[in-house]
Amino acid sequence: MTSPVLLVGGSGFVGRSVTARLIEHGHTVIIPTRRLVRPERVARMPKVQWIQGSVHDAPFLADLCRSVGPSGAVINLVGILHDRPGQPYGEKFKSAHVDLVRLLLETLQASGIRRYIHMSALGADPEGPSMYQRSKGEGERLVRASPLEWTIFRPSVIFGARDNFINLFSRLASRLPLLPLAGARAKFQPVSVENVAEAMVRALEMPHTIGQSYDLAGPNVWMLSDLVRFAARRAGHPRLVLPLPAWAGMLQALLFELLPGQPLMSRDNLASLRIDNVLPPGSDQVLDTVFGIFPEPLESLAR
Ligand SMILES: NC(=O)c1ccc[n+]([C@@H]2O[C@H](COP(=O)([O-])OP(=O)(O)OC[C@H]3O[C@@H](n4cnc5c(N)ncnc54)[C@H](OP(=O)(O)O)[C@@H]3O)[C@@H](O)[C@H]2O)c1
Repeated sequence: MTSPVLLVGGSGFVGRSVTARLIEHGHTVIIPTRRLVRPERVARMPKVQWIQGSVHDAPFLADLCRSVGPSGAVINLVGILHDRPGQPYGEKFKSAHVDLVRLLLETLQASGIRRYIHMSALGADPEGPSMYQRSKGEGERLVRASPLEWTIFRPSVIFGARDNFINLFSRLASRLPLLPLAGARAKFQPVSVENVAEAMVRALEMPHTIGQSYDLAGPNVWMLSDLVRFAARRAGHPRLVLPLPAWAGMLQALLFELLPGQPLMSRDNLASLRIDNVLPPGSDQVLDTVFGIFPEPLESLAR
């Protein structure tokens, strides 16, 4: 019998695919969420238990770990792309990517759970150019220093039918006559959400992945401007992409940050683009070599 899995951050885009794969592999899944917005989902997924609460609350987290038990595992998918602007070290980034990881690691140790799978991001680095990358890097550092049986995943941008990246540019293309774009020459190596989810779930059954960190990427490198053109074509609205010089990109990001809601592109997002989001030259395609998964190209994404 396979073990129960606590899927922290499991209500989002990647979480949906990881949940489906966990069930396929025979696991039962517990998903905490701050807002149980669609309780009807609960009835449709008998092997998934949704629990409302904040994983930042230590007693709540300890209760969740007790339900999973020492033979179970924890997968942490919590991540955010935006902080409140104007903070020296983004408080929200620190809370989601560092403080929560520390609490998780302590709670797992106290509850006797050994196996921990951590979702980071390609480019995560305590010395990186953006708050996002630095906070993700700090989180990784805590995981590497822990005595748990950890595995870290570092994907490039993740695509899928319900992603927040290609779909964002598809929506913009359907509304705007041309697309002014900052960081147009930044490079990405988009990886399929189904590939990422399958690798994470297989890792639970592969003891030699313990203590390892895996950069995940698709088969092809794309410039951001080409990704945006692809998204626009896919939406049926081919658009001219207008690359912005650095100063105009900064101004655009500042304006986005002043608008209510999540900015389309923040200055911190722009800082992340200073480092190409691709596999280091000569590195292995670990999806294939370690996990035996064929890396799907972005072009496989159905319209
Ligand atoms: N999508 C990508 O292209 C990409 C690329 C590289 C790495 N990643 C990493 O993959 C992970 C999953 O990404 P995603 O695209 O699935 O994100 P998502 O759709 O935005 O989902 C984020 C999840 O994290 C939870 N969450 C957000 N902020 C939280 C906070 N402050 N405290 C506790 N829980 C919080 C949300 O739970 P609630 O139900 O409580 O709201 C949600 O389940 C993240 O760690 C992200 O950094 C993503």
